[in-house]
Amino acid sequence: MSIAKPLVKLEFRELKGNDSKLVIDLYNSLSNESIYYRFRGFFKDFERYIGSVFSDPRNIIYGAFIGNELVGVLEAVYLSDGCYEMAIVIKDNHQGKGIGTKLVAYAINDLKKRGAKTLIAHTTPDNYRILAISRKFHGIIKCMYEECTTIFNLQTINVDQFLN
Ligand SMILES: CC(C)(COP(=O)(O)OP(=O)(O)OC[C@H]1O[C@@H](n2cnc3c(N)ncnc32)[C@H](O)[C@@H]1OP(=O)(O)O)[C@@H](O)C(=O)NCCC(=O)NCCS
Repeated sequence: MSIAKPLVKLEFRELKGNDSKLVIDLYNSLSNESIYYRFRGFFKDFERYIGSVFSDPRNIIYGAFIGNELVGVLEAVYLSDGCYEMAIVIKDNHQGKGIGTKLVAYAINDLKKRGAKTLIAHTTPDNYRILAISRKFHGIIKCMYEECTTIFNLQTINVDQFLN
């Protein structure tokens, strides 16, 4: 006899200051490898980092949820008018299942609605997953030595196919 599992939907929303603890808990749960790729080095002071991201109201933080569990966070840090820097992480046991792609699509769609024009991301040349995602969204990728910079022109990207 098979027991049907309830289907728990992936949902997205903007996170606010009162979600800080959820975000810090997610960061604290990460493997060293994910921390390394996310911060391009070893880093542990998540409380201070998250506090500083939420403290600037121009920054926009997006969360991906499965039920009540926060499984991914994307920070769009304000750089200048219409221009944001993106950083993203998905919980280790949820990586490689398409959630990162959908979270980037959700963020791009929302940033476009707010009038943003450019999104920038920095990574290392061995971060195949984020580079694969960057190509999906037609980012212009330039790698030099240990760093790759991707520029997304939000005015020309259509993310509709990734939203559902
Ligand atoms: C990078 C990250 C956010 C991606 O999210 P994710 O949910 O794991 O990614 P997805 O499943 O949506 O997509 C991953 C893509 O990488 C591709 N990929 C995986 N390994 C790959 C490899 N070795 N070579 C090429 N492509 C690869 C997958 O095929 C997939 O593309 P597809 O959907 O076309 O098949 C997530 O893996 C993560 O949190 N990593 C640690 C932190 C980090 O690296 N952050 C980014 C820098 S700020």
